[in-house]
Parts: sequence; C-alpha cells; structure tokens
Amino acid sequence: MTAHRHPDSIDVPFAVAAMHRLRFTGDVLGADREVLAGVLKPSGDRAARVQFWLDGHLATARPDMVERIEAFYRAFPNGILPAGNVQIVPGGEIVKNDIHILERMLKVFHAADLDRRSYVVVIGGGAVLDAVGFAAAIAHRGIRLVRLPTTTLSQADSGIGVKNSVNLFGKKNWIGTFAVPWAVINDAALLGTLSDRDFICGFSESVKVSLLKDAALFSELCGTAGRIRRRDLAAALPMIRASAKLHLDHITKGGDPFEANEARPLDFGHWSAHKLETMTDFALRHGEAVAIGVAVDTVYSSLVHGLPVSDAERVLRCLVELGFSLSDAALWNAETLFEGLEEFRQHLGGRLTLTMLRGVGDPIDVHEVDREQMCAAIGRVAEFVRADGSLTSAAGG
Ligand SMILES: NC(=O)c1ccc[n+]([C@@H]2O[C@H](COP(=O)([O-])OP(=O)(O)OC[C@H]3O[C@@H](n4cnc5c(N)ncnc54)[C@H](O)[C@@H]3O)[C@@H](O)[C@H]2O)c1
Ligand SMILES: [Zn+2]
Repeated sequence: MTAHRHPDSIDVPFAVAAMHRLRFTGDVLGADREVLAGVLKPSGDRAARVQFWLDGHLATARPDMVERIEAFYRAFPNGILPAGNVQIVPGGEIVKNDIHILERMLKVFHAADLDRRSYVVVIGGGAVLDAVGFAAAIAHRGIRLVRLPTTTLSQADSGIGVKNSVNLFGKKNWIGTFAVPWAVINDAALLGTLSDRDFICGFSESVKVSLLKDAALFSELCGTAGRIRRRDLAAALPMIRASAKLHLDHITKGGDPFEANEARPLDFGHWSAHKLETMTDFALRHGEAVAIGVAVDTVYSSLVHGLPVSDAERVLRCLVELGFSLSDAALWNAETLFEGLEEFRQHLGGRLTLTMLRGVGDPIDVHEVDREQMCAAIGRVAEFVRADGSLTSAAGG
C-alpha cells in the first residue's frame, strides 16, 4: 500500500558522515602522549584549546595526575593550549544524580570560552564520562569530547558508545543526548588504581556482548575468567579490546547508532539491571547489576526460548568465576522489579522489545515476558548460587 502524500510535502532521507576514533595505549600521559596529542587537531592556524576533566576518585588515587596533565601541555607548546585549570568532579553515580554539578560544568566551559573546535578531555569512570559528556554535548550544541575511560566497564562498553546522560526524576539516564565522541583512548595504565570490585565490573558487559555477537569470544572469556578475576592483564586487556571492538562495530555498522529501532540489542540483561541499580540505591554497581540481569535473562532464555541449559550453565559459571555475586535481595521484590520492564519500554516508546538468546551468539527480539517463567528463572539463578554449579538439579532433573 502506498501511503498518501500531501502534494506540498518534501521528505528527503539523508545520512550524516561521522568518524569514530578508538585508540589503545599503555601510558597515555607518558610514553604514549603523542597518541592523545594526535587527536587534538589544531583549529586552522591556531593551537587546539584543551580542557581536562578528572574523576575525583582517580585524582585521589593518583595525586600525580594534575601534574602529568600539565606536563602534557608543556610537551606540545605550539600545538596545544590549556583552556582553564584541570577540573575535578565527584566520581561515581553522584555526579549524575546532582543536576547542579551539570550547571557548574557549563559555567566552567563558558568562563574558559570553549567553542565547537575546543576539546574537553574527560578522564574517568563511566559516570563521569556520561556527565561531562552530556555537558559538552549541549554547550554550543557540541564541543569536541575526548574520552579516556578509567574503568574496565567504560573501556569495554560505555566509553565506546554514542550516548551520554545524567539521572533525573529519580530515573537513570533520563536526560541525555546521542553524540559521537571526537575520540576514545583506552589506556591500560589508567586501570591500575581501580578497586578489585570495579576491576571485574566491566567483564559482565564483555560476557553480554560476546553472548550476543561472538560465541568464540564467550568461550575465551570462560577460559580466562579466573585469571581476569586475579587481574592478570595479559588475560584481561585482550577481552576489553575485543568487547570494545564489537561495540564499535555495532555502532558503526549495525545501522542504528541512535537507537531509532525498537530493539536495543546491546541492552541484553539491562531491563532488570537498571531497575536493580535504583532499587538498591546504587549499592549495586552497573556492572554487578548487569551480571545479575544477564544471568536471569540467560536462564529465562533457556526456559522459554530454547537456549540449551548447558549453555546457560556456562554463562552463570563464567560470571561466578569472574567474581560476581549473582544474588541480591532486591530480586525477590518481583512487583517492583517488573516495573523495570515498563520503564525499559517507556524509555524508547513503542512496543516492549527485549533481546533474549536462542543460542550463544544467536539473539532474538521478543515482545513479551512470561512473568511466571521469569520468576522461575530468578529462582534458578539463586539455586545455582546456593548449589554452586548446576541448573538442572534446581529443576529437579
Ligand atoms: N553512556 C552509556 O552508554 C552507558 C552505558 C553503560 C553504563 N553507563 C553508565 O556508566 C556508569 C557506570 O560506569 P562505571 O562502571 O565505569 O563506574 P563509575 O564511573 O561509577 O566508577 C566506579 C568507581 O570507580 C571510581 N574510579 C573510576 N576510575 C578509577 C580509577 N582508575 N582508579 C580509582 N577509582 C576509579 C569512580 O570514581 C567510582 O567511584 C553508570 O552511570 C552507567 O549508567 C553508561
Ligand atoms: Zn551496561
């Protein structure tokens, strides 16, 4: 059926070219500083004006950071100019929960006269990247943003994405934009001061993306989970890199970078994860909540969508070996948890669309959830944790 078009309407599809620049370094403010300098292009014949923003917890853990940033400026006296002092913001979710911090960021940009050809370089965890990135995206309708993610989660996942946001009305990521970062630099040395707890967090996203897109990578993760948990970088860094690359390919080649379609495949396991984060008042980290959400939706997939139970067991075992606790009291508040489904739908509008698994590397979109089976899945994950290692015994056979 051809839709009726008014004779005075003009509908022209168009595409906008964009570039996603991803770099991997070992010491971005030291031996590899040319890599950072290389993405800070001069503005015509004028040096690049660059303002640095730092995650407060990183600044505390690495008191030399500010001095290293100043040394970076000094190393490129002709090409790079400081635009104001190094700025430090509170690390973690708090920076996204206080809208006044956002306003202060805008004031700092304004005071330094940043323009669309200036650079905001933000060094921090996913929360700080989201908040500073949002401020940079709305100032002058977009200042160039260079992200240096400092958590495994942001290096493997969120730092690569084209989203930024802060929380509003008690809801995660309610206000934000889609904006392609100017560049992302994943630096191994920046992970050095992370707590063990935060170090493993990123690997729940690696499990997630491998389950969606790369069965071989998932097997590799299963094989290296113990080493990753012990922070063996020779095992961990290649997994971060592979996850980041899958994420990048999804954005640049997947055909829907700005999530106009109903499905958000990278959000496997996230309907409950987001809800668990707010239900626990962010006592659960994003990566920890994702581990639980992925476990639950994996078992649900085995109950409803034909994922082999043996594969579901591998997923849970891998998450446990990485060091995740797959149980949380909030899971038993089913009524509130299921509100997460409606919030997930409402964020996008349209029909509820969740990604589930038919097999490892074989996702499907589904439009409804059998709540009884979902409760059964939650029960089996809990039983797996108690019995340590089997889903079939929980099923009684
Ligand atoms: N934009 C997106 O697409 C997207 C996707 C997924 C998650 N997110 C968001 O990312 C946030 C979670 O990010 P995260 O998991 O990176 O955690 P985080 O930013 O909350 O960081 C965890 C903690 O570690 C500290 N920290 C960070 N780097 C450190 C370092 N190198 N040394 C010492 N301490 C350090 C932080 O200050 C914080 O206290 C959530 O707000 C989540 O919603 C965004
Ligand atoms: Zn996530």
